[in-house]
Amino acid sequence: MVIVCCADISGYLEGSESGIQDLGRIGAVEDRIVNIICANLNENIKMNINEISPRIAVNVAIAIEHMVLRALDFKLGTCWIRAMDDEEVKKIFTWDQNTFIVALLPVGYPDESPMPRRRLKIEDIIIK
Ligand SMILES: Cc1cc2nc3c(=O)[nH]c(=O)nc-3n(C[C@H](O)[C@H](O)[C@H](O)COP(=O)(O)O)c2cc1C
Repeated sequence: MVIVCCADISGYLEGSESGIQDLGRIGAVEDRIVNIICANLNENIKMNINEISPRIAVNVAIAIEHMVLRALDFKLGTCWIRAMDDEEVKKIFTWDQNTFIVALLPVGYPDESPMPRRRLKIEDIIIK
């Protein structure tokens, strides 16, 4: 199975505003902060896709990594795939420019057990 991990750009922009307002309503975020974030979001709506795409990509990437970890719970393997032609993928599904594809995520039961890749030591990557 291959999951096409993508965002609906206009839905993302509209959802961001209602999401932060929900946090304000339940008292998780002060009204003052909600207002500041909503003003920023209104600026985002004016951005073009090249400006907004890194923000969308980060949000989708968080969701992808949750899927990667949840798949592991079921002993499933995954692999992030970015080496693809986004426009070809969109053509297959007849998606327009409102869909922003972040990655493909093939999911399956591994039939190989390669050696782990070389890793940096934990003390080399943590700044104390
Ligand atoms: C943004 C991103 C794009 C990636 N694109 C590809 C890809 O196109 N093809 C591929 O085989 N692996 C791809 N990977 C997977 C990496 O090759 C690597 O296996 C994965 O990040 C796990 O890292 P590790 O092997 O160091 O544990 C991608 C990973 C990331 C984070």
